[in-house]
Amino acid sequence: MSEIKTSRVKTQELEPGMTIIAYSGFHSKYHSLDDKSCKFLQHNFKKSKASVIRNNEKREIPVELLKPADKLLRLYAFPSELKKLLTVNEKLINALKARGFLEFDVTNEALEKDEQKELQDAISLVKQASMSTKEKEEHYKKAKENAEKFVYELKANITTRSKTSKAIENIMDDARKGKISYAGINDYVDEITRNSSAEAISAIVSLKQSDQTYDHCVDVGVIFQSSYFKIIEKFGKKGIFETKNKALLAAFLHDFGKSKIPKDILDSTVRFERESEEMKLMESHPDFGADILSGMDMPDSIINMAHFHHVKQDTTMNSCYPKGVDYGKVIYESRLLSIIDAYQALVGRRKYKKSWNPPAAIRYIDALAGVEFDMEAWENFLNVVGLFPKGSLVELNDHSVGFVMSTPRQDLKRPQVAIVRNSGGEDLTHHSLIDLELEQDMSIINDLDIEETFGQDALNVFSNIQIV
Ligand SMILES: [Fe+2]
Ligand SMILES: [Fe+2]
Repeated sequence: MSEIKTSRVKTQELEPGMTIIAYSGFHSKYHSLDDKSCKFLQHNFKKSKASVIRNNEKREIPVELLKPADKLLRLYAFPSELKKLLTVNEKLINALKARGFLEFDVTNEALEKDEQKELQDAISLVKQASMSTKEKEEHYKKAKENAEKFVYELKANITTRSKTSKAIENIMDDARKGKISYAGINDYVDEITRNSSAEAISAIVSLKQSDQTYDHCVDVGVIFQSSYFKIIEKFGKKGIFETKNKALLAAFLHDFGKSKIPKDILDSTVRFERESEEMKLMESHPDFGADILSGMDMPDSIINMAHFHHVKQDTTMNSCYPKGVDYGKVIYESRLLSIIDAYQALVGRRKYKKSWNPPAAIRYIDALAGVEFDMEAWENFLNVVGLFPKGSLVELNDHSVGFVMSTPRQDLKRPQVAIVRNSGGEDLTHHSLIDLELEQDMSIINDLDIEETFGQDALNVFSNIQIV
């Protein structure tokens, strides 16, 4: 792939015929954004990317995630609908001057279609919006196949999830008796990476009961594996784990230290007092885990994940343990795992607590990102699961109700939705699939609680989805 030749110019050097690739110099008012400038940028640079300094670190984020106090360095990866902000003419030059945009990366060359991935994504998005009937039919045919595959895989993987959970319980029981080995779960690690779908099992977390120890480990494992490799692919990140098996095993074992905790404490559904002996013991599980895994000669990365998955970015927080850890020692994988661990704990359906809707959990963690959770890991995770993770139940603006069936490619708010209840409140036997990235007049207005909406029947309603 050839590089596009660009040069850096100031506003007064802009000439008609140039194409702006990035906005890269700003008036001092953008050096620390306020609420008003965030809203202005989010409105005018929708779906672009921003490079900012946040908490003394440089970050590349979607414009939608800009926050007050961010220092703006660069705006780039503009979608095609913003073409008018990129094609230099007299009118644009005047507007840029007035707005305090001072420097730009520009090119005189016509862009080759395949030269910039973001631009190409944007081109395909616009193409979809202006698709011919035949193209739209083809698009929906493919989307329908993917949705059907997702339903099929989810159903097929329910047994895999419960068998894997049992295997984890067995190795932890064995460890409690002094027989320490992880061989018992190797078959399931293999089974999931070879024949099953980690992503489909991930979606079960909001649809099916999960206990707080063993199902939790399975759910965290599969969510970690599927999001981790998507992040590597999407962001070109260099991950420590080369194979799906290793990533899955590492995440399955993150709470292995709980095998040193008596079962009655582990399975207790009452919340222990902060300073109680039971709580202290529970909070030792990362230390126990690191000890056991070191004794098994596990790689440092796996030990780091078991040891540091409850360490918060703000290490002074009460909920941060073990205490006194330098956050710099917490590897990216452990930071990502700690987000997924918190997500599963919120969304997981337990008999004794109300579970959160996945989108509500996403918003909750979003508010804590940068304080409790690492911002880079959070933004990566958000980008690959979306604001409405697959399997979420949502209400659309016509008051119909449906399950989220895909992760959006561009707009994190616009997944594909299988409608299971029409706007009149009737449950449907045959379901239509709506791609919100294509149907711009439709949108999600609410996320719904699956249990409140369908009672114990939620999994059945999902399993019986038949797209017409
Ligand atoms: Fe834990
Ligand atoms: Fe955990």
